[in-house]
Amino acid sequence: MKRICVLPGDGIGPEVVDCAARVLKEAAPGDLEFIYADIGQSAFEKHGRYLPEETLAQMRASDSCLFGAVTSEDSPRYESPVLRFRKELDLYANVRPVKTLVQLPQRQPIDVVIIRENSEGMYTQDEVFDDKGVTTMRKVTKGASERIVSYAIEYALRTGRKGITCVHKANVLKASDGLFLAIFREKMKDKGKGLNASEQLVDSAAMKLVAEPMVFDVIVTLNLYGDILSDVAAAVAGGLGFAPSGNIGPKYSVFEPAHGSAPDIAGKGIANPTAAVLAGAMLLRHIGLERAASAVETAVAGFYSSGHLTNDLGGRHGSKSFTDHVLKNITG
Ligand code: NAD
Ligand code: IPM
Ligand code: MN
Repeated sequence: MKRICVLPGDGIGPEVVDCAARVLKEAAPGDLEFIYADIGQSAFEKHGRYLPEETLAQMRASDSCLFGAVTSEDSPRYESPVLRFRKELDLYANVRPVKTLVQLPQRQPIDVVIIRENSEGMYTQDEVFDDKGVTTMRKVTKGASERIVSYAIEYALRTGRKGITCVHKANVLKASDGLFLAIFREKMKDKGKGLNASEQLVDSAAMKLVAEPMVFDVIVTLNLYGDILSDVAAAVAGGLGFAPSGNIGPKYSVFEPAHGSAPDIAGKGIANPTAAVLAGAMLLRHIGLERAASAVETAVAGFYSSGHLTNDLGGRHGSKSFTDHVLKNITG
């Protein structure tokens, strides 16, 4: 029996996570125990914190976590619960596979895995004010760069991927992105034999993700570039409802859709749960339930291949109807 800590969060978070939990229960009957924990605004209202200590303890006491999304706040006192759990649980790798499930007009097919450094770069939140303005520290360490590049190489070898592209901006950020790129080159020579190594500047990488996405297989990149490029990739596949994501560390893991809380559509029953359900499949695979993971992925792919379309693609299926179809595909 594996314990999953479910963190619904805000906006459409609870809506899509509920769909994912229903699908996981169906795919792995009797294998999973679910516990629920507060995060985001609902947690703040109840406990006065966006990521209460009780929640962190529940996450640590579980085999993996399934997270929806939170709505962030403008206040300078606001501390993102997402950044905090990534740090507290040492979730150094953010893995975001984006694959075309339905071929849309004027979009190119895509099948990419963006592996994003998840602990530093532009996300150190170390900002210094003076009378001229603000200076933001952007940190690139050897240790974190080696760790993420090694993770990407192992991931590519394990999953039968053919190549890794390092996406960077070392033409401008010569020292920091230069270090990341040098580590990529070194590690690929050493451990990445058999994989094609390539390099792409982040601006043209964004263009190519839209214009010729199939040139990419695995991408390894720094934190903010990975954040932005994963939303670009999601749009190519149909929108933010199509990008699942796993935050992975040596001991803990948190799976989530790459999208946010989407306040503009929350409460309407129209959010596309595909990303959350596929994040659930990633979770199942991560905890060793490979057959259940594949069953979920096949059921989701089957929804689209049989011609159904969700609301975000102009179709008639909302969150519930999508999930009912996927559940039916699992049970046969
Ligand atoms: P967003 O991802 O919430 O939404 C962007 C657009 O995509 C919106 O039009 C939304 O309706 C649409 N969209 C997103 N998910 C969808 C889905 N499953 N189905 C259909 N349409 C979907 O990004 P945003 O609007 O920039 O941010 C909203 C809030 O979410 C902000 O407070 C932001 O900080 C937060 N956020 C949280 C996370 C997280 O918790 N992991 C991630 C990103 C953004
Ligand atoms: C994501 C989100 C987060 C990020 C926010 C909520 C801190 O956009 O998971 O992609 O920037 O990493
Ligand atoms: Mn993002």
